[in-house]
Amino acid sequence: MSKTIHSAQQYWNDRSDLFGNYYVKPTFFDRVFRKGVYTRVAVATKVCQEFPNSSILDIGSGPGVNSVTFIKNSSANKITGIDFAPNMIDYAQKFSSEQGVSDKCSFFEGNFLTHDWKNETFDISVALGVLDYIKDAEEFILKINKLTEKAFVISWPENGLRMALRRYRYTCPLFHYTENDIRNLHSKCNISDLKFVKSGGGWVSIAYK
Ligand SMILES: C[S@@+](CC[C@H](N)C(=O)[O-])C[C@H]1O[C@@H](n2cnc3c(N)ncnc32)[C@H](O)[C@@H]1O
Repeated sequence: MSKTIHSAQQYWNDRSDLFGNYYVKPTFFDRVFRKGVYTRVAVATKVCQEFPNSSILDIGSGPGVNSVTFIKNSSANKITGIDFAPNMIDYAQKFSSEQGVSDKCSFFEGNFLTHDWKNETFDISVALGVLDYIKDAEEFILKINKLTEKAFVISWPENGLRMALRRYRYTCPLFHYTENDIRNLHSKCNISDLKFVKSGGGWVSIAYK
């Protein structure tokens, strides 16, 4: 029987509690098999600590747990989260209030690729667990580059067994990358200072401007 296909927006709108719990109430399975999720947060948090008093953009902020981690563990002034799943935005707003940092957090519903950012810029931009759902990675990277002043951090899934299992389980389209793809995409933004961290199921890239 063929499975129903959803958009990434529909898929994630139904999973705000599930994803929030990977951080808030991780199971033994999460700790062992979702290590990459925690590695990428650690990498992005370190970059937030490198630039004092910065403004941060969290693209595909999901449940907002990472946004709160960045704010609590750096001297950042402000974090803006954008996500196109309304239930994720509700979760993030509630979570940041519960954590006592809502004054430094602003979450809004929107599609990163189509949102009109006007002349807004951010010191640091972060996109964790997002490129998995982006059909046009070049459009994404040109946009994140334009919006970012100092550094941007992106996680990239690779092909392999893990991706095959995800494709079987997930009902939305998934995309994967090679290290070469990632380098080529960054070269379109003339990024010369690019760092890579290998994480379970892919890489985290840090582009310094
Ligand atoms: C796997 S979750 C990751 C959430 C969070 N970044 C984290 O690592 O905890 C991916 C999130 O990206 C959002 N997303 C994917 N593509 C997006 C887009 N083009 N614009 C805004 N949000 C997007 C989804 O709605 C979902 O909440």
